[in-house]
Amino acid sequence: MENKKQDTASALKDIISHAKEYGFVFPSSEIYDGLQAVYDYGQNGVELKNNLKMVWWKAMTMLNDNVVGIDASIFMHPLIWKASGHVDSFNDPMIDNKDSKKRYRADTLLEDRAAQYEAEGKAEVGKALLQKMAKALDAGDLEAVRQIIIDENITCPISNTANWTEVRQFNLMFSTQVGAVSEDASLIYLRPETAQGIFVNFLNVQKTGRMKVPFGIAQIGKAFRNEIVARNFIFRMREFEQMEMQFFVRPGTEMEWYAAWKEVRMKFHQAIGLPASKLKFHDHEKLAHYANAAVDIEYEFPFGFKEMEGIHSRTDFDLKAHQDLSRKKQQYFDPEINENYIPYVVETSVGADRLFLAILCNAYTEEIVGEGDQQKQRIYLNLHPAIAPIKVAVLPLVKKDGLAEKAQEISRSLKFAFNTTYDEGGAIGKRYTRQDLIGTPYCVVIDYQTMEDDTVTVRDRNTMSQERISIADLKEKLGYAVSMERIFEKLLV
Ligand code: GAP
Repeated sequence: MENKKQDTASALKDIISHAKEYGFVFPSSEIYDGLQAVYDYGQNGVELKNNLKMVWWKAMTMLNDNVVGIDASIFMHPLIWKASGHVDSFNDPMIDNKDSKKRYRADTLLEDRAAQYEAEGKAEVGKALLQKMAKALDAGDLEAVRQIIIDENITCPISNTANWTEVRQFNLMFSTQVGAVSEDASLIYLRPETAQGIFVNFLNVQKTGRMKVPFGIAQIGKAFRNEIVARNFIFRMREFEQMEMQFFVRPGTEMEWYAAWKEVRMKFHQAIGLPASKLKFHDHEKLAHYANAAVDIEYEFPFGFKEMEGIHSRTDFDLKAHQDLSRKKQQYFDPEINENYIPYVVETSVGADRLFLAILCNAYTEEIVGEGDQQKQRIYLNLHPAIAPIKVAVLPLVKKDGLAEKAQEISRSLKFAFNTTYDEGGAIGKRYTRQDLIGTPYCVVIDYQTMEDDTVTVRDRNTMSQERISIADLKEKLGYAVSMERIFEKLLV
């Protein structure tokens, strides 16, 4: 069996069409020609995404005694975004081409040019270009950024001209109005990160849950960013979901916790099926003003190693900023050292959609099966059984002679325990293929022998091998094979 898994950019195209064709991800508002950088999850995608969210949630809140969850609102008081720094500095530098009227991120244009130099074997030139850009951006010198674009003779791919506007800072937050009448209306933002909902509830949770530092608060929810450059499918979206956890620690202990969470999070990604060879840490060279350490966990997508999760040691920046602006103390009394302090925070933040994309890219497998002129291509999704949308397909070999009724009975007995589907339409080989394409790990087949001895065959998606087992053992055997317990066991060693 030859595994033909590709790692090139063309692999992404195959994955996007597979995701659409088999009910994982659809472009939003497709009948109106779509809405850029917004996507909908289909019948299989929602199951896979829910499983990823569930495994993350349980790994955080069930496996750690000192991590609890919340679900804060998307709308928050506008001053929250002032305190967090998002109103003043959550910006991307953008530039418009006057002829095509297309808008670009100035830094992305230069990064693409640097990548081009690198591809041409002029890595040093590319590096120097990036340094020059970083210097101009750090100094807030947007005219210098524009000049670099002009010096590099970068043209718009649509109009092919270098007729550029000035570079402007573009705030990524979406805003809207609350209130029924415009005079009463006030500006409100759609949250650009879920983290602030955790910070402003820090004392509520600490007091009502009698939590002792160190402890964490986890949250899964939607976030919104008006990304100028949206590309690579669900990698960069305007509406997306984050899974974030803020871990509140005694000041001075943050680096230990930062190191510990780095390892925990890396282990998580491997436990759900991402190979170690496709994951790496990438330390931030330049730290945000509030951070004293920051690292990304990168996954090797078909378009290269890119950020999937961020782990940041955020000091007491956020709680202090909220204390200052709200004039409400954000302090914790630590009974062990008899002191009041604002805790420091270590944050883990992973995009549910990015994790979904990594999992889908990793699972998408093309292989050649059979020998000689019997060879054919097979495509399947090699998903960890615990996160697969459907765990078991129950298939009667034929519809007649009571096989269908027997299969339905088995399907009914399994569906309370895990996501089961029943399919009696078409040749058995075609039905296997349908399940392979959506990553169903097991197919249970009811044949004539079943009617005699109450056994069925269980076909394994990856190996295509079949095992005969008794119906009485099905629930327990398959139940363990598809359970999240198998992931959690790996996290606890
Ligand atoms: N609270 C910290 C924070 O929001 P971030 O690096 O801006 O940090 C964290 O975002 C994670 O959220 C990223 O690692 C990524 O997985 C996800 N993410 C950010 N922007 C995204 C977008 N436009 N589309 C999809 N996922 C995104």
